[in-house]
Amino acid sequence: MTSWPDQRILDLFGIDLPIIQAPMAGATTVDMVIATNRAGGLGSLPSAQLNVDGLRQALVEIRGSTKAPVNVNFFSHRSPPIDAASQARWRAMLASYYLEAGLDPAIPAAIAGRAPFDAAFCDVVEEFRPEVVSFHFGLPEQALVQRVKATGAKIISSATTVAEAIWLEANGADAVIAMGFEAGGHRGNFLSDDMTTQVGTMALVPQVVDAVRVPVIAAGGIADGRGVAAALMLGASAVQVGTAYLFCPEARIPDVHRSAIEASRDNSTAITNVFTGRPARGVVNRLMREIGPLSVDAPAFPTAGGALAPIRAKAEAASRDDFTSLWSGQGARLAPRMGAEELTRELYQSAINVLSQKSV
Ligand SMILES: Cc1cc2nc3c(=O)[nH]c(=O)nc-3n(C[C@H](O)[C@H](O)[C@H](O)COP(=O)(O)O)c2cc1C
Repeated sequence: MTSWPDQRILDLFGIDLPIIQAPMAGATTVDMVIATNRAGGLGSLPSAQLNVDGLRQALVEIRGSTKAPVNVNFFSHRSPPIDAASQARWRAMLASYYLEAGLDPAIPAAIAGRAPFDAAFCDVVEEFRPEVVSFHFGLPEQALVQRVKATGAKIISSATTVAEAIWLEANGADAVIAMGFEAGGHRGNFLSDDMTTQVGTMALVPQVVDAVRVPVIAAGGIADGRGVAAALMLGASAVQVGTAYLFCPEARIPDVHRSAIEASRDNSTAITNVFTGRPARGVVNRLMREIGPLSVDAPAFPTAGGALAPIRAKAEAASRDDFTSLWSGQGARLAPRMGAEELTRELYQSAINVLSQKSV
């Protein structure tokens, strides 16, 4: 086999390689997106930790550097009402960590934010017309979906179950990301909160392929050519790779995060809600061990993180990862160590090599 036989995503997005660099809020940089695009993959810019001006500035840089298609990614959760009682309970649970760090547990906490997609972000989509717009946690309200579609953008979103994939197709997705349990970062689940029934990539991808007509993108635990080749065999038209790109020099992550993923093994991660209020996969650390990994007391997403900021900053200054979200998938150890442009090409070429060997 000399080239990728499934053209569906390549044609839909207008890209050369079936490799999507995953949007990773806080870690993905403009340089990573541009480098991926240069290799012929799809670079994805996450917006969850940007405001409208930050997004606009990033898109000016990207559009100024490459003519290749780009994916802009948004969270589509609904912001929860302010819940003072839940925040007070959470602060009380964290009080001993504040005291240990020499901080007053009563100091005001910032409201930690992850901004959901809204009309103002949609204005930026209309202005820059990215070729692909991806969502996490379902889709925004239909009026916004229709505005995005009217720009000509292809819409994609993550499904963690077959039911979510069917829902996304019925509500306007042009392709579905089948996000297996191995994946790093926030789970994309939106129809069920039950983490005990989430599905692994190997089982999820072919069942999603069977259930929807739109093309499927496999995500979760794919970090080398073998995983990319396996995704094709399961019926996926492309892959979305996150954790492997965290090792690239273009990734912007705290040193403690880099050290944690460097040392990470197959069983180093767990699903936790203690950093943001929503389940996400990361390398197990002190906070997860002592009050998680899943806590019923974590305030609603995305408000859990504000109270952690002061103790996190103190710990990181002492090179400790105790309170840092160390997002990572289960496949970290597989990741080749190279720049994002090279990695995109390497993931593709090594997949083709694997497929060629197996087909003789
Ligand atoms: C550090 C990190 C941050 C992430 N942030 C986002 C995000 O902002 N938006 C999103 O749709 N997915 C996010 N994800 C999930 C990825 O898009 C992708 O589905 C996942 O990384 C694939 O699994 P893998 O990490 O095993 O490759 C994140 C993942 C990681 C590791």
